[in-house]
Amino acid sequence: MHNAAFASLGLDWRYLAFPVAPAHLEQAIRGALQMRFVGINLTVPHKILACPMMDALDESARKWGAVNTVRIEARMPGESWQPVAQLGECVESELEFRTQGFNTDANALAQALREDLDWKPEGSKVLLLGVGGAGRVAALRLASEGISSISLVNRTHSKAEALASEISFRFPQVRAQAGYPSDAPDLVLNASSAGLNQDDPLPFDESRLDFRRVARVFDMIYRPRETRLLAAARAAGCRTANGLGMLLHQGAKSLEIWSGKTAPISVMRRALHEAIYTESPIP
Ligand SMILES: NC(=O)c1ccc[n+]([C@@H]2O[C@H](COP(=O)([O-])OP(=O)(O)OC[C@H]3O[C@@H](n4cnc5c(N)ncnc54)[C@H](OP(=O)(O)O)[C@@H]3O)[C@@H](O)[C@H]2O)c1
Repeated sequence: MHNAAFASLGLDWRYLAFPVAPAHLEQAIRGALQMRFVGINLTVPHKILACPMMDALDESARKWGAVNTVRIEARMPGESWQPVAQLGECVESELEFRTQGFNTDANALAQALREDLDWKPEGSKVLLLGVGGAGRVAALRLASEGISSISLVNRTHSKAEALASEISFRFPQVRAQAGYPSDAPDLVLNASSAGLNQDDPLPFDESRLDFRRVARVFDMIYRPRETRLLAAARAAGCRTANGLGMLLHQGAKSLEIWSGKTAPISVMRRALHEAIYTESPIP
């Protein structure tokens, strides 16, 4: 989606994927800075690890405790920091460089829930399945938006308990608990990775959750297009959406942070669909 957007915006840029081991993350980020990359996206398992490695953290990364977007910035002595993409002609030896970390996942989820499920957070009761990196950011973001309660279910129960305590401390107006809620949730959100493979178990106990009493179900997974969880929810009459909209919006915001230009959303959406859902995507 990024390369399609670069072409559409007339940017002579390339988006490339680099597998990096966690032990080499800091070297990889410094290397990107030295090579004058415009920016980087980080994914599992780097988003939390990268926070202390940034020279500066935007409010979005500080608030949600995870970095998925890095912008390389430069400045002349005594001046303000500028994205390298907007520097123009400068004598490089006179410049100082740094990395700034951002988080675009949290807002992207909120936008996807609004657009794809017409969901409004105010007063809502949420059941979150999975409290790994993405689940934690989702829980904190939704708690900040005026939901009334959140129940956290995780394979490793102690992690759900720890996050429930954190939410209760940071957002005392939200009822947060580890485990299944006693009444039906308005929204079930899957942020566990169970469902990525066709033979994965469901990330919840079927005897504890009746989809016939749930209005909306969102699965952060976008491949397969419909997970077993989404299929079960649809069959029970729930409104459902997968994680493609979230992926699109976090990418679009990253592009805007790097380039200062408005992201061509429809171009990016089309490229995503083609790459992810066509049988033989063009390499
Ligand atoms: N659409 C998007 O833009 C977007 C963005 C971010 C993430 N995601 C998706 O969200 C999912 C989670 O990502 P993440 O970054 O949070 O990963 P993560 O930090 O590795 O967390 C994985 C979570 O899934 C749970 N889990 C793993 N296998 C399970 C199983 N067999 N049964 C039940 N629970 C299981 C883990 O439970 P334990 O704590 O017990 O290990 C943990 O809560 C992934 O599928 C990822 O692709 C989508």
